[in-house]
Amino acid sequence: MKILITGGAGFIGSHVVRLFVTKYPQYTIHNIDKLTYAGNLANLTDIENHSNYKFVKGDIVDAGFISKLFEEEKYNAVIHLAAESHVDRSITNPLEFVLTNVIGTVNLLNASKKLFADNHGFERFYHVSTDEVYGALGETGMFTETTAYDPHSPYSASKASSDHFVRAYHDTYGLPAVISNCSNNYGPNHFPEKLIPLCINNIKNKQPLPIYGKGENVRDWLYVIDHARAIDVIFHTAQSGSTYNIGGHNEWTNIDVIRLLCRVMDKKLGRAEGESEQLITFVKDRAGHDLRYAIDATKLKNDLGWVPSVTFEEGLDKTVDWYLQNEEWLNNVTSGNYKQYYDSQYHKR
Ligand code: NAD
Ligand code: TYD
Repeated sequence: MKILITGGAGFIGSHVVRLFVTKYPQYTIHNIDKLTYAGNLANLTDIENHSNYKFVKGDIVDAGFISKLFEEEKYNAVIHLAAESHVDRSITNPLEFVLTNVIGTVNLLNASKKLFADNHGFERFYHVSTDEVYGALGETGMFTETTAYDPHSPYSASKASSDHFVRAYHDTYGLPAVISNCSNNYGPNHFPEKLIPLCINNIKNKQPLPIYGKGENVRDWLYVIDHARAIDVIFHTAQSGSTYNIGGHNEWTNIDVIRLLCRVMDKKLGRAEGESEQLITFVKDRAGHDLRYAIDATKLKNDLGWVPSVTFEEGLDKTVDWYLQNEEWLNNVTSGNYKQYYDSQYHKR
């Protein structure tokens, strides 16, 4: 099987590429990535020389390039992760999200549809999506696969749109597609614009920890390697046309996550208990900030037997260790344009 993984140089994509390249030496894995600010080939140095792996630099928004690539390579499957993924950036620049997340997805669907229609052995289009398409929950309840879509941010609106296109291509053209909607991931290689890695970097450097609003928003955190494991199971066993929610049954308010992170890091850095908590700074809230996300992953457990393998405490511990041991990675991604982004995002708050 020849599989195209999109966005494989990003956070989750790099873990999916590593899992597929190492677990399935009989598969050929191509990774297409535009290498935006979020894409980093340093995430894949340990597997870049494997004989069943190839990197293709390219933009999924370029329809001509994508259709030529599919014609030449005759992929049997696509695992689609490439996206603009940060809510705050989507508030500043929504169009970039429409281009990559909507048009880019439709370009991949068109190229896949052609291989499928021409009987080239195209078996699966796997679209990796987010729980944010379902909107925000109040204090109770959970998202299931039948919860109505109600996106609020330009990011979640673009992901919802791409999900609708994937379903439309399944229903209209019979494309063998599956979708999963996952909760917030954390773990190694996470770009430090998102809450957990941003705060790890700031705790390390004794910089303020910016908490939006009162820190009462709730997210359901899943260790990235558990997400990759779920993608593996769904890719191989889900029925075409199906959707699965993926989550950790692990809800935390933002302020509690950051307090826990401060405790973990104070210990590891040999600081006095409570020292890093002093860095917590409440800043202006995000516009349209969704109050709470929580995933009901019962269907995935009952149908395909997947459950998370790592507790939040274990996962956070491993994550902090990774960042402390990979100082060069962190320094590289926080030099250059990162500073500009950080200043414009946080110094106005
Ligand atoms: P990321 O921002 O870390 O990585 C995205 C990757 O896509 C980068 O390598 C980037 O270079 C690449 N990319 C962006 N635009 C491209 C384009 N036009 N052409 C080719 N490549 C392009 O994102 P992530 O957090 O790893 O998320 C991956 C996928 O998982 C996304 O589809 C996201 O919506 C979804 N998801 C993320 C989370 C999360 O918590 N991070 C949760 C659920 C679902
Ligand atoms: P984020 O990591 O951006 O993921 P998402 O918005 O996709 O859930 O944010 C997680 C939560 O943390 C969200 O409620 C917003 C909040 N947050 C902060 O309080 N401060 C920050 O600097 C960032 C980036 C996020």
